[in-house]
Amino acid sequence: MALRAKVLGTGSYLPPKVVTNDDLAQIMNTSDEWIQQRSGIKERRFVDDGMMTSDLALEASRAALASAGLEAGDLDMIVVASFTPDHYFPGVSSFLQRKLGLDATPAMDLRCQCTGFVYALQTARAFVESGIYQRVLVCGSELHSRGLEFSDRGRDTAVLFGDGAGALILGPSEEGDGILNCRVYAQGEHAERLWMDAPGLAYQGLTNAEMIAEGRQVPAMDGRFVFKHAVARMPEVLLATLAECDLGLDDVDHFLFHQANLRINEMVAKKLQADPAKVHNNIHKTGNTSAATLPILLDQVVSEGKLKRGELVTMTGFGSGFTWGSCVFRY
Ligand code: COA
Repeated sequence: MALRAKVLGTGSYLPPKVVTNDDLAQIMNTSDEWIQQRSGIKERRFVDDGMMTSDLALEASRAALASAGLEAGDLDMIVVASFTPDHYFPGVSSFLQRKLGLDATPAMDLRCQCTGFVYALQTARAFVESGIYQRVLVCGSELHSRGLEFSDRGRDTAVLFGDGAGALILGPSEEGDGILNCRVYAQGEHAERLWMDAPGLAYQGLTNAEMIAEGRQVPAMDGRFVFKHAVARMPEVLLATLAECDLGLDDVDHFLFHQANLRINEMVAKKLQADPAKVHNNIHKTGNTSAATLPILLDQVVSEGKLKRGELVTMTGFGSGFTWGSCVFRY
């Protein structure tokens, strides 16, 4: 039997502070009705002062290690998917590695926005399947709340995002379970349709007062264009990923989609004619937590006892880049 990368344990962490749509309507011109109608989001979590992306990652990683019955010292590699790092460099993974009490374990960041976790799985599984590393921590962690602008100018994105982290541990298996297939794609042609222009090294000194006044540090999105591409790409990549391992939609026990917008996921599920009982959503409670979304959702489905060993799971994402991808695994 081929060597495959299997999920040994999962963990997640959401900061305790709940921010409702009504809370946001107190600080800017929006409403619970607008947000719920367009996105399905009712509330999200925001960090308190002092907490950083690597702290969220640490909590989720500790939980994943405990669920796998492992200690940090058992890890051979750390991969963190995030585009909201504590600092410009080094990446979140260096701080996470230090906070886990490790001193030489290789640690890398991967920046593929909302598809980051699928890219991280594709990367980590290659290390496990090749036999290079045995135990790989794969974490998605995002802290959006400090980077959003709670004003009319930023409201189209400010209401959509939340903070959180999710993680899993991959290890080798020859039992026929584990990751069966994973596909990731990118289309840089549409990079500016969902992006944050500055700060960046396209500009002398990263940014300046004029650029800040213009709001070039506020996430910018062509919402309808993103929506249209997400609902086309997600079913397409999911079906192709399944077909490549001779599986069909009926074989899937659990569909996990990136949680950017409930309307996107409803449309994707409808296109696939997926059994609603097999489609899991948590966006109403979390908002979009980008690369943290899929591992948070996975851990919740596991913790709630909905996902059993041996069942077939798909994880499918779409995001800025554009990037998209899908992973199918037997849990
Ligand atoms: N509260 C109230 N009004 C808002 C608002 C907010 N938070 N944000 C924007 N608006 C206003 C706009 O100013 C605009 O007003 P105008 O018509 O007077 O110019 C209007 O609402 C836009 O509404 P509409 O065109 O109906 O928005 P939409 O149906 O395109 O929905 C999104 C907007 C963002 C919810 C939707 O396009 C979307 O979800 N896109 C995909 C987003 C996504 O997935 N992003 C992450 C990908 S990983």
